Amino acid sequence: MAGSKILLIGGTGYIGKFIVEASVKAGHPTYVLTRESTLSNSAKSSIIHKFNDLSVNLVIGDLYDHQSLVNAIKQVDVVISTVARSLLADQDNIISAIKQAGNVKRFFPSEFGNDVDRSNAVEPAKSAYATKARIRRTIEAEGIPYTYVSSNFFAAYFLPSLSQPGGATSPPRDKVVILGDGNPKAVFNKEEDIATYIIKAVDDPRTLNKILYIRPSANALSFNDLVSLWENKIGKTLERIYVPEEQLIKQIQESSPPLNMILSIAHCVYVKGDHTNFEIEPSFGVEATTLYPDVKYTTVDEFLNQFL
Ligand SMILES: NC(=O)c1ccc[n+]([C@@H]2O[C@H](COP(=O)([O-])OP(=O)(O)OC[C@H]3O[C@@H](n4cnc5c(N)ncnc54)[C@H](OP(=O)(O)O)[C@@H]3O)[C@@H](O)[C@H]2O)c1
Repeated sequence: MAGSKILLIGGTGYIGKFIVEASVKAGHPTYVLTRESTLSNSAKSSIIHKFNDLSVNLVIGDLYDHQSLVNAIKQVDVVISTVARSLLADQDNIISAIKQAGNVKRFFPSEFGNDVDRSNAVEPAKSAYATKARIRRTIEAEGIPYTYVSSNFFAAYFLPSLSQPGGATSPPRDKVVILGDGNPKAVFNKEEDIATYIIKAVDDPRTLNKILYIRPSANALSFNDLVSLWENKIGKTLERIYVPEEQLIKQIQESSPPLNMILSIAHCVYVKGDHTNFEIEPSFGVEATTLYPDVKYTTVDEFLNQFL
């Protein structure tokens, strides 16, 4: 039996495309809300081709066209939003379309990071997380069945540079900047694995009205552990430069977007430990590797081998 029909809103985006692929692979009839302008955007042509090859149903629509949202949503059972950070607040439009359509069994709002209800972030991350939290409260107030995905860090975003400034494409081999004392554990998950877990959660009653945390034990590493792991691989000791929290806070306040956002996210994860500084209680959450032990996820150790 085919699983639920799934609509992605933001399916042509960074994390969205992995979820679309995982959905098709798992046999779900898969729909992607696509703007007219995206279909003729040459930068998007390879992804559109790929979706056509995968027999994805492209549904023309826009987050700012209410009727197009309602029409798309009426064709499916589950809605997954992966819209960009700048559009988070406007997910109110999706919520009102879901209410009007009246047929949605599960909504996954655009989250895919820290648990925004358990955050020690400073600005500007603080406001971005507050927006995601406000969307949660609206979903709950409207009585829409949901799953919130706390996938922690996307591996391909943070591991190639080992979170070093300047966006290097492979980890450093001489010195490394470590925020804070390097002891809180952060979690890094490969995008394909995040997508696999999300799709497994779609029809799972255990994830209904819960936060799905993707927190594999092998992928929870302190910054110090991460550096040691890399040092072992390259057979070399790096110079470790520690940035005290006060200095980092000052740097966040003095930098412009997007650097201040990147640094404020790094602060709450690497200095405050927001990926791992709380227990996942059954009353609000479930953990993906516990629910789906059959999934063979990529470990940070394995991920780093590509840079050798
Ligand atoms: N944990 C992590 O490490 C991490 C890292 C990055 C992001 N995130 C989170 O992941 C989520 C998604 O971010 P992302 O970077 O994947 O997003 P993204 O690549 O910027 O994708 C945004 C998507 O929104 C679509 N879109 C834009 N305007 C639209 C409109 N008017 N109507 C309908 N769709 C529209 C885009 O369509 P087009 O393709 O047509 O432009 C695209 O598919 C966010 O919540 C973000 O905070 C987490």
